[in-house]
Amino acid sequence: MEKKSVEVQVGLDSDFALLLREPLTYENKMESRSKSKLRGFILVCLLLAVSGIVYVGYFCPDHVCALTSREPSWTDFSAKFPIQDNIGKPLLTHSNPVNMKTSNFGLSYDEVLNENFQFDMNAHDVMVFLHIQKTGGTSFGRHLVRDLDLQRPCTCQRKRKRCYCFRPNRNENWLFSRYSTGWKCGLHADWTELTSCVDSELDKNEGDSVKRRYFYITLLREPISRFLSEFRHVQRGATWRNSRHFCGGRTPTPEELPQCYKGAAWLDVSLDDFVACPYNLATNRQTRMLADLALVGCYNMSYMPSIDERNRVMLASAKKNLASMSFFGLTEHQKESQYVFEETFNLRFAVPFDQHNATVSSLTLSTLRPDQVAAVKKLNALDLELYDFAQKLMYQRFARLKARDPQFEDRFAHLGELRGRGGAELDWDKMLEEDEDATSSGINT
Ligand SMILES: *[C@@H]1O[C@H](CO)[C@@H](O)[C@H](O)[C@H]1NC(C)=O
Ligand SMILES: *[C@@H]1O[C@H](CO)[C@@H](O)[C@H](O)[C@H]1NC(C)=O
Repeated sequence: MEKKSVEVQVGLDSDFALLLREPLTYENKMESRSKSKLRGFILVCLLLAVSGIVYVGYFCPDHVCALTSREPSWTDFSAKFPIQDNIGKPLLTHSNPVNMKTSNFGLSYDEVLNENFQFDMNAHDVMVFLHIQKTGGTSFGRHLVRDLDLQRPCTCQRKRKRCYCFRPNRNENWLFSRYSTGWKCGLHADWTELTSCVDSELDKNEGDSVKRRYFYITLLREPISRFLSEFRHVQRGATWRNSRHFCGGRTPTPEELPQCYKGAAWLDVSLDDFVACPYNLATNRQTRMLADLALVGCYNMSYMPSIDERNRVMLASAKKNLASMSFFGLTEHQKESQYVFEETFNLRFAVPFDQHNATVSSLTLSTLRPDQVAAVKKLNALDLELYDFAQKLMYQRFARLKARDPQFEDRFAHLGELRGRGGAELDWDKMLEEDEDATSSGINT
């Protein structure tokens, strides 16, 4: 285990080194316009402040201004114009990329866990579920709204096909997910979309006076199974064409993100055609959905001329964002994921998570020719590397939580067995599955 954790850190650091060496210039290019605007604004503010002080100090009569009663202070100034903000972003243990290179990831997770990491439902903490297609996120999302043992359980409404997941002391959402808030930031919104949208969406309902803390969570799945599962889903008519892919302040143009098919859907597509389409969003979906796409110029392929470099930056960014998440689970390891979630958030599920072994995708896999398997693997190389990284990190977190839990054996053997709970409404399953079919084929969102 020790050896593994070292590998993780080394791998991550060298990726960051690569990420930092060149692509920062791209980032600067992207943001230079807004930065220079900001600089102008700050300059005007400074001028106003200085001339104000001069006016007050020299020209204002003492009996009017009475400087001693209230000094113009820099704290007021910086409260109004915070220099560095992390609004809408997950709690980053290392939001400063310079520190990131030198710090130790494993330790920092430990720090987070022991010190400032307490999900406080009564305060302003929000859990944001980043739901990647075909990772088992639908059942997990359902567990979140239905099966958590809460002081104030979510209340679900059949007509709205939603649940209110409110804080114990006031009607404010603590959970940002499809079954609580809905797809407020777009259908299956990715990291780039969520981090630029969640905060302002919640502001709309709850006002912008509070500063919320965001706890991002997600699930990852073995990439070949996930890809094949998405392939099957698309064959049956799913398109997710209502996804916005919002990035860098706009949605991509049709030239930047062409469709792989003509007409309404890609019904009955063959695997060979599915693999051959260069714009297929199923390819390396997990890496793309976890990366900060602004770093690679969003969907504009001419922004970064070298595809290898684009891939490298995207993968490094996805790893970094994954490591900064409060929680991620692995579809193949339901039990461990449940335990890690419960220990991390100090919350309990009233049901055990199911492990489905024989899935559609494993059946699909057994029917493929060896060259097809090889092509799918090659195509999803980024996701394979991300998943490998995720597995190591997950087991590192699991081992840490286990080591500090004196009741581990008992807890782990009885996950999801809470007394006085149970009797889930079966209608819910049916209702939400209907919902899934509608949204995934883009009919009803
Ligand atoms: C894509 O990026 C290139 C290079 O940075 C730029 O010249 C072009 O205008 C961009 N395209 C769009 C649609 O923004
Ligand atoms: C799935 O596989 C695991 C490990 O191989 C096994 O322990 C478990 O019982 C299986 N679950 C089902 C539902 O078949």
